[in-house]
Amino acid sequence: MAAHTNRPVLVRDARAFRTTIALKFLMTASGLVFIGYVLAHMYGNLKAFSGEAAFNEYAHHIRELGEPLLPHEGFLWLMRVLLVVALVVHVWSGFALWRKAAKARPVKYAVKKHTGAIPAARIMRLAGVWVLGFTIWHLLNFTIVKVNPSNGETGGDNPYALLVDSFDLWWMTLIYLVSMAFLGAHLHHGTWSSLQTLGWTSTAPARARAKAFALGFAIVVAGGFSLVPLGVLVGIID
Ligand code: HEM
Repeated sequence: MAAHTNRPVLVRDARAFRTTIALKFLMTASGLVFIGYVLAHMYGNLKAFSGEAAFNEYAHHIRELGEPLLPHEGFLWLMRVLLVVALVVHVWSGFALWRKAAKARPVKYAVKKHTGAIPAARIMRLAGVWVLGFTIWHLLNFTIVKVNPSNGETGGDNPYALLVDSFDLWWMTLIYLVSMAFLGAHLHHGTWSSLQTLGWTSTAPARARAKAFALGFAIVVAGGFSLVPLGVLVGIID
């Protein structure tokens, strides 16, 4: 009798579990698009260390990629569409996972009060929302409006000058460095969580490897991006 009454619950649980896994796969797949993008973008930014001509040449070259097969800026627009699709999928599945977790556990864990530790899921949401807000500010700053915050001028076709002038302001450097710390936190847990979803954390050595990889990757990306504002701060890039 007990087994009989339990059955529908088990089936429902199995379905809920499958939905959670599917949502986590969507997070991972869309997250991979961002990972590819941030790695390429970070590499491009580091060209600032090679000077104005190299950096601006690179920014110019991106707009010509794929020509004549693609129109001018065609590659850039394909990438932008891919990024927007990945963003919608990532935010939507993140939101759906959060709703599922909230429904499954309407009463919060009492243990939180004792440890004072912030759960990883909450850090992910906070860092995710911060990185999204940062990206909007970043696009306004460097791509859409291109306001040069140090003198208020708009426009111009010199990405290098805009970069240096922006990070000549201490508060811009601060916003960027704090945002890179949030990006690092998000990447750290996101990478670990994805490796878990992919089933690459099932043994103790695999878990240790996955942990080290997630941490190393987050440090490389957040650190690599931070080098440019830091380079301006100490005067290597000017
Ligand atoms: C210190 C960190 C960063 C610096 C110095 C930086 C610098 C820049 C610059 C100069 C551009 C304009 C490039 C051009 O017009 O040729 C740009 C564009 C962009 N950046 Fe960043 N970036 C940083 C971090 C990030 C991060 C962490 C993200 C993503 C989370 C990001 C996403 C973007 C996007 C989406 C664009 C627009 C590309 C386009 O469609 O034209 N950036 N960035």
